Amino acid sequence: MFFKKKKPSGDIILPEHIAIIMDGNGRWAKKRSLPRTAGHAAGSRTFKTIARYCNKIGIKYLTVYAFSTENWKRPKSEVDNIMNILRDYLKDTDNFKDENIKLEFIGDRAPLADDIKELMLKAEADSADATGLHLNIALNYGGRDEIVHAVKSIVKEGIDPEDITEQTISDRLYTAGQPDPDFIIRPSGEYRLSNYMIWQAAYAEYWFSDILWPDFSPRDLDRAIEDFSRRNRRFGGV
Ligand code: IPE
Ligand code: IPE
Ligand code: MG
Repeated sequence: MFFKKKKPSGDIILPEHIAIIMDGNGRWAKKRSLPRTAGHAAGSRTFKTIARYCNKIGIKYLTVYAFSTENWKRPKSEVDNIMNILRDYLKDTDNFKDENIKLEFIGDRAPLADDIKELMLKAEADSADATGLHLNIALNYGGRDEIVHAVKSIVKEGIDPEDITEQTISDRLYTAGQPDPDFIIRPSGEYRLSNYMIWQAAYAEYWFSDILWPDFSPRDLDRAIEDFSRRNRRFGGV
């Protein structure tokens, strides 16, 4: 929390919307000779810590990548394990109310289990009036899939091609109405987006690190935000 002290003097500029690719759970477990499931359990604890911390320091939007449209390629036992971690999280409804965090899911819900879909709707409804952090959990989310979904909507609505603008597309993404992420964090030593928010990321700043997600701490986030704060964002200007 060191920069909290600096904030009033205007030294630190907080990102408005942080997007995190929560990667490295499997390698974290492997390093400890544990099953990958232990890595996912640890990663979910880190997720709660970081979401709480973002809320505390006044971040408006946080979007975390929990499960991609490509992650179905993993062994069924691992997919089931990730879904069970999500179930447990959603059943712990106190998570949302007490902390004034507004929860929303982005991604294609259709292939998910019915009970999970219900829990997702309930968690969203229960936190609908929260005024703190807006937390998006990207689940069965893929950036290309999201754009296909938006294009289908545009065609179904019969919009005249001449009337289509960038806003027409943004308005039909899962993140409609939200600011684009201005800061994207990927731990675990990989330097790619893996189909994450590819439309919204057009002018985001990126922060990569070798830290494996379960080891990622509020102190690491402070450091990342400090870096963000020093960047000169030009948006094509001078
Ligand atoms: C991220 O950790 C969690 C999900 C993709 C669901 P990984 O499971 O990808 O961990 P690594 O990349 O194998 O270490
Ligand atoms: C990206 O991580 C997806 C999530 C963190 C949910 P992956 O581990 O699936 O990405 P790749 O396979 O390394 O690109
Ligand atoms: Mg990975």
